[in-house]
Amino acid sequence: MSEQKIKRGRFITVEGVDGAGKSSQIQVIAETIRNRGIELVITREPGGTPTAEKIREILLSEPMSPKCEALLMFASRQENLDKVIRPALAAGKWVLCDRFTDASYAYQVYGREQPKEWVDELSDFVHHDLQPDRTVLFDLDTDIAMKRLERKLDRFESENSEFHKRVRKGYLKLVEEQPDRFLVVDSSKPKEEISQLLQEEFSTWD
Ligand SMILES: Nc1ncnc2c1ncn2[C@@H]1O[C@H](COP(=O)(O)OP(=O)(O)O)[C@@H](O)[C@H]1O
Ligand SMILES: [Mg+2]
Repeated sequence: MSEQKIKRGRFITVEGVDGAGKSSQIQVIAETIRNRGIELVITREPGGTPTAEKIREILLSEPMSPKCEALLMFASRQENLDKVIRPALAAGKWVLCDRFTDASYAYQVYGREQPKEWVDELSDFVHHDLQPDRTVLFDLDTDIAMKRLERKLDRFESENSEFHKRVRKGYLKLVEEQPDRFLVVDSSKPKEEISQLLQEEFSTWD
């Protein structure tokens, strides 16, 4: 008897500068997809597994060199891919991930101004066979985004305004390079308007 081949699930990521509204809208995307009867796993980076969450704690608080930062981001990503993302996709589930490798380009390459080759090589090493199918970029003026953040700021959020501006510019450069993969959301709009737009997108997107 031949085994039925399960179709790989869809891999969706959300990106954007800190305070752009990713966490506020991720549940809207999830609910819209689940309402279609699709099984969906939500995860985040850095983090997503107990070990990767420990790496996250270090990344968000401890001083380190830019190269160490890039490597730890991918160490966390490897763990999340092995334990959460790949198994879910292989089982036909969809995965929604709060940040992925686009963030490594935006933060480590553009924000920290480190060589693009690092991230090219690391992403090739860790997930050459898997890229996001769709990416929602929450785009917002970085000064407005920072003002929206009322909590205690982490190591990245505490960076200066120029850093955040470079990160935003980096994300927009990625959109220019791969316009089909990205859905760019204007995060200056009211939450309800953004939620509606995402409901429309994900009630049919396949
Ligand atoms: N469209 C919006 N308009 C105004 N404030 C918003 C909007 N979206 C999110 N916020 C607020 O901005 C802050 C940061 O949003 P959050 O979703 O945590 O951003 P992120 O996860 O991208 O860092 C939160 O206080 C949130 O309530
Ligand atoms: Mg968030």
